[in-house]
Amino acid sequence: MHVISSPSILYFGTPVALISTENEDGTFNLAPMSSVFWIGWRCHLGLQAISKTVENMRRTGQMVINLASPAQVGAVDRIARTTGSNPVPDDKIKRGYYHVKNKFETAGLTPVPSETVTPPRAAECPVQMEAVLEHEHGYDQDGPLGGYIAILEARITRIHVDETILMEGNPNRIDPDKWSPLIMNFQEFYGLGPKLHTSRLGEIAEELYRTPDFDRAHQTRLLAD
Ligand SMILES: Cc1cc2nc3c(=O)[nH]c(=O)nc-3n(C[C@H](O)[C@H](O)[C@H](O)COP(=O)(O)O)c2cc1C
Repeated sequence: MHVISSPSILYFGTPVALISTENEDGTFNLAPMSSVFWIGWRCHLGLQAISKTVENMRRTGQMVINLASPAQVGAVDRIARTTGSNPVPDDKIKRGYYHVKNKFETAGLTPVPSETVTPPRAAECPVQMEAVLEHEHGYDQDGPLGGYIAILEARITRIHVDETILMEGNPNRIDPDKWSPLIMNFQEFYGLGPKLHTSRLGEIAEELYRTPDFDRAHQTRLLAD
């Protein structure tokens, strides 16, 4: 039997990403987030507009989207209620947030240089996606939430993958039996269980999903060039 329910949040379970961006003084920020979905070699990230991450993305147009696995759960939780913003916005003070300047260090994660963007990758994360900001979209533009949330469309320029999650003999396919995202389910952390069923969708060749962004990424100049 179903009953009417009104949960205050609707976090029904999404993968956790750690976004690295460059601060105005050349240091780097790192922020956990999970309101992200993927289409082609792009994603849309939903972030509170007052976050340091959004400020940095708007200014530099660059980021790295690091995907966490269950092995990084401690690192994610260590920076869970922190912000790179100083002073801490009122809204975050109410929820017990505090300022941390070097979140890589607090998390215990290692920054390593990226190849196409300035913000570093988090070495321990099995998937690291370098990306550029392409567009910003509206969220309740004419309503009371206008300006409160930023919907940022990022285009991937380079992907680094831990070889242990790749399909045997195929460096361009992630093996879903080996990759397990860290999931934020409401405000708690979970992992994925084993595969449940074979998939008819899984019979389609992955190459058929390629978009022009795929070729564009492979023509992207390296920072070192
Ligand atoms: C697992 C997890 C998921 C989160 N998901 C989001 C999210 O999707 N959007 C968002 O605005 N904040 C999210 N947060 C909160 C941000 O991490 C928080 O706003 C943080 O202060 C951002 O850091 P910054 O101000 O240094 O950019 C999440 C936090 C955790 C721990």
